[in-house]
Amino acid sequence: MKGRLIIKNAAQLVTCSGFKTKQGKAMSDLHVIDDGTVVIENGVITAVGKTGEILEKFDETGFKTLDATGKAVLPGFIDSHTHFVFGGYRAEEFSWRLNGEDYMEIMNRGGGIASTVRATREASREELIESGRKRLDSMLSFGVTTVEGKSGYGLDEETEIKQLEVMKELDRLHPVDIVRTFLGAHATPDDYKGREDKFIDYMTDNVMPQVADRGLAEFCDVFCEKDVFSVEQSKKVLLKAKELGLKLKIHADEIFPLGGTELAAELGAVTADHLLHASDKSIAELVKCGIVATLLPGTAFSLKESYARGRYIIDQGCAVALATDFNPGSCFSESIPLIFVLATLYMGITIEEAVTALTINGAAAVDRADRIGSIDVGKAGDAIILESPSYKYIPYHIGVSCVGKVIKNGNLVFDKEN
Ligand code: NIG
Ligand code: FE
Repeated sequence: MKGRLIIKNAAQLVTCSGFKTKQGKAMSDLHVIDDGTVVIENGVITAVGKTGEILEKFDETGFKTLDATGKAVLPGFIDSHTHFVFGGYRAEEFSWRLNGEDYMEIMNRGGGIASTVRATREASREELIESGRKRLDSMLSFGVTTVEGKSGYGLDEETEIKQLEVMKELDRLHPVDIVRTFLGAHATPDDYKGREDKFIDYMTDNVMPQVADRGLAEFCDVFCEKDVFSVEQSKKVLLKAKELGLKLKIHADEIFPLGGTELAAELGAVTADHLLHASDKSIAELVKCGIVATLLPGTAFSLKESYARGRYIIDQGCAVALATDFNPGSCFSESIPLIFVLATLYMGITIEEAVTALTINGAAAVDRADRIGSIDVGKAGDAIILESPSYKYIPYHIGVSCVGKVIKNGNLVFDKEN
């Protein structure tokens, strides 16, 4: 059901106005309206402006109204990179890492991603739907109205498809919209160890065509990393995906500077993600090709790696999106306030840029900047009402969410007071 709603008297209406990716300096302009009002009809925004002017034109009867006096209103957040559908947990692994063990070492001896693959293969659809639903509830409470989710914990036909079907079902059941990404090349399963090329063939020839034919994913991603998949192997995966009509994402230069960022530019990916070790030259290529750099500060924090060069990347004129990378291993957190404070304190990203990175640029990262990510006439009625008078409280209240209410397609779907 699509709602009819007026959100009025907002101390700050942070519109993030725009219908496409914001690069570099453009990320600073949030288009804030003081004392603003937004009107949503049939789930779509139909008017935005100063409260006095809007309420003159609209009769409030027939609308549900929310009074945002003393509060800031923003577009719903878009978490554009997660792995939120998985079985099992890896708390033990976290404690091994506290004792000095390395993420890649754990992975190479059969822990890490492989242990989540075992648990995800064992989990029933119902179990994955139940845990997925709880995770979406938590994301929603942080103001997330659209999330991207990846497969990649199956590494076989049955489980990769199961993960994508679970996301499709969750999209139907839950107010948060889900954008599905096929990540069949996330790691090599045990039965293909030493035969990585054969595994790539299996994924591209047997699994990916089904995923594309059945419309189970909109994007394809690959873990391009030393000791995981080479640039050559990643290219093979992404070229096939492109041929099948999937849009491209890539886990690039996360732990080792392998060259995934250049590959994103070469193939015209929508995003290049992580980029902890991306070279100056590769960043210049992202700018030239208009590719979104998706930065994931929670992962660098959790792995105790140095952060991607957010300030530098934006100064070069690049478009940056911020996301959680929520997954059971390298970053077990769906916390938007955590991402926000890390980006501002440790990546040199301003508060305004971080807001853009989680709204309109998050939308661009899932190729939906024409439909979501800003409070503009014609866009989906997705918004959040903070408990605070200004967006500046988002990082200031360290690690604590100041989201009071969440509106999805014009309906109130989360209310901290109830
Ligand atoms: O984005 N880098 C690869 N994939 C995830 C981690 C997956 C896992 O550890 O389960 C990431 O960091
Ligand atoms: Fe990831």
